[in-house]
Amino acid sequence: MRLTKQFLFLTFAVLAISCGRKVSDVDKKVNDLLSQMTLQEKIGQMNQISVGGDVSNFAGAIRDGQVGSILNEVDPVKINEYQRIAVEETRLGIPLLVARDVIHGFHTVFPIPLGLAATFDPQLVEEVARVAAIEATAQGIRWTFSPMLDIARDPRWGRIAEGSGEDPYLDARMAEAMVYGYQGRTSDSTSMAACIKHFVGYGAAEGGRDYNSTLIPENLLRNVYLPPFEAAVNAGAMTLMTSFNDNDGVPSTGNKHVVKEILRGEWGFDGLVVTDWNSMGEMINHGFAEDRPDAAKKALEAGVDMDMMTYGFIGHLEEMVRSGEVKESQIDAAVRNILRIKVKLGLFEHPYINVEAAEKVQYAPEHLAAAQKSAEESAILLKNDGTLPLKEGLRILVTGPMADAPHDQLGTWVFDGEKSHTVTPLKALQERFPGKVTYVPGLTYSRQERDNFSDVVAAARRADVVLAFLGEESILSGEAHSLADLNLIGSQSELLKALRATGKPVVASIMAGRPLTIERDLENCSAMLYSFHPGTMGGPAIVNLLTGEANPSGKTPVTFLRTVGQAPMYYNHNMTGRPYSGELLMKDIALEAGQTSLGNTSYYLDYGAYPLFPFGFGLSYTSFEYSGISLDRQEYRAEDTIGITFTLANTGSREGTEVAQVYVRDLVGSIARPVKELKHFERITLAAGESRTVKVELPVSSLAFFGLDGSRKVEPGKFQLWVAGDSASGEPVEFEVE
Ligand code: NOJ
Repeated sequence: MRLTKQFLFLTFAVLAISCGRKVSDVDKKVNDLLSQMTLQEKIGQMNQISVGGDVSNFAGAIRDGQVGSILNEVDPVKINEYQRIAVEETRLGIPLLVARDVIHGFHTVFPIPLGLAATFDPQLVEEVARVAAIEATAQGIRWTFSPMLDIARDPRWGRIAEGSGEDPYLDARMAEAMVYGYQGRTSDSTSMAACIKHFVGYGAAEGGRDYNSTLIPENLLRNVYLPPFEAAVNAGAMTLMTSFNDNDGVPSTGNKHVVKEILRGEWGFDGLVVTDWNSMGEMINHGFAEDRPDAAKKALEAGVDMDMMTYGFIGHLEEMVRSGEVKESQIDAAVRNILRIKVKLGLFEHPYINVEAAEKVQYAPEHLAAAQKSAEESAILLKNDGTLPLKEGLRILVTGPMADAPHDQLGTWVFDGEKSHTVTPLKALQERFPGKVTYVPGLTYSRQERDNFSDVVAAARRADVVLAFLGEESILSGEAHSLADLNLIGSQSELLKALRATGKPVVASIMAGRPLTIERDLENCSAMLYSFHPGTMGGPAIVNLLTGEANPSGKTPVTFLRTVGQAPMYYNHNMTGRPYSGELLMKDIALEAGQTSLGNTSYYLDYGAYPLFPFGFGLSYTSFEYSGISLDRQEYRAEDTIGITFTLANTGSREGTEVAQVYVRDLVGSIARPVKELKHFERITLAAGESRTVKVELPVSSLAFFGLDGSRKVEPGKFQLWVAGDSASGEPVEFEVE
């Protein structure tokens, strides 16, 4: 016994010493360099410039030590050349950090992040991010501006496409997965620094209009918007980007409270903080900084280390240090954070890439397989009257603007994926059902208007089943692409209606960058499969789902609205003082009815209180039943773990995967608490007829929140807990925390 203890102690001591040495090796190297650097060289490290930006002599700027990082160069030959200049032609030979927006894949394109979130499969998402890192680092890119962790509760906001949706818990799990995937569990030449963005609150843009102000009070910030970032920091995210928005008047790039106090102070983040593109300069537009020098000073004081494209640091810091306005120690702190990343990535040892090898890893078969798997897992079956899966031998009419749209199915923020590699649904169907597929596009792009569909209707009459591929072009979501109308654009709904009128079974397969308001379209189809833009292998993935070779398992990562006027509407809202209790709708109100407010509750007269589909919803070709939901005790202390047991049965006739979800409600708090919060989920695959008893361990500490006194703790009291297949189902069990 003593021996084992001694052994353990020794092992621990050796480990501690070696880890300690490792950390101090990085810091030693950083300090060594810093001690040799001139003020100009230090400030140069804090400058990030883009190819195609204002710096005409790119190589010259690098040679002059004015650049710490470049973005948007992807030519491996040029990247090697820029690195050579930095390493061989500058005094201290500090390599560049080469950055790129690798958002959902590099060459091989995966579903947009909202689609990846719909998989509820962090393991797969890690794999996907790893593939992106392998492809991008092979070409010399060692820093990606991803993952985007902005909680988005308003589908009008175009960038909802780029995040994981409305839920902080799901977002946090996706955040960790992407950080592990990009950076690798162990560091090597395929490690690509992740950049968690946009810090913070950007997704709460007023009215869903991009770049807009946000009004997020402290408790909401800490309970909803910050947790994904904290999870990513704890997973080791190397860098972070400040956001464009001002929150309650303070632009993030100058927000000392969130960057210095919370990120650095409370969470101990020692990574690199970069601004968003010119977000330093935009503080002048916000009316928060007088001019560029003032903006640079405010950003530095807030805790920013690197300036993306304002030229604020490079243009003004030297002068400000000389005049005493800024201390050199502030600059040193920033440069340390930058150099630390360069050392950790091994850039000093291996600044160059092998150009010949770079091409070979792009679109590797295993990368395409991961793209197909993620596209399969991310599709959500929203309706099915039994038309799906398709029977063999049918004559199929393929129609709609997304049937053969190799560019658009890739989705937003694709700079490097080429449409020539995209496999569209049309192509995949023609391969799968030779001689059985007729293609009449009806509409060639999503915005197209047309009032006569006689050609498509005639073709539909000759077919046994119609597959209508509808949705949005990729350019209609993403940055600066907010929408005020979320119905299917152009004449797509009319096309669907005309097809429905033929009496043939019509399957709508949607590819979009956001949850569209598809209520009327649901009525005009027999089945609907919803994919957020699915990427390179979207075609074969969708065809596998339509034929039943794969069984849909995706779940909505955001609430689907009936009409845009319901936005923002999300499942984890607080309870109002007058929760909805099913009042009259407009159509039922008598003429000249008298004014009353007594007994009224929170809802819309025209659209009621509920969305079209709740968060966490998705059908399968089989059915699942939950039973026997029980807890190991009824009372817990704050340090306990709640043992949850339930039985999940596959009650249908084919194998399927269910995403079992655990939600909790804290009934009374020092501040009003959400009506439900997701606390755990897992994908469970069951054979037809199989049932399994599942155990979940939920630490009571996961119920902690920031309350009235501003501290994070579990408040004693009564709780409810649900285990269900979506956020609107199931019956609660109760427990208490002492
Ligand atoms: C602006 C976007 O907001 C940000 O997400 C992106 O990483 C940068 N531009 C760099 O392209």
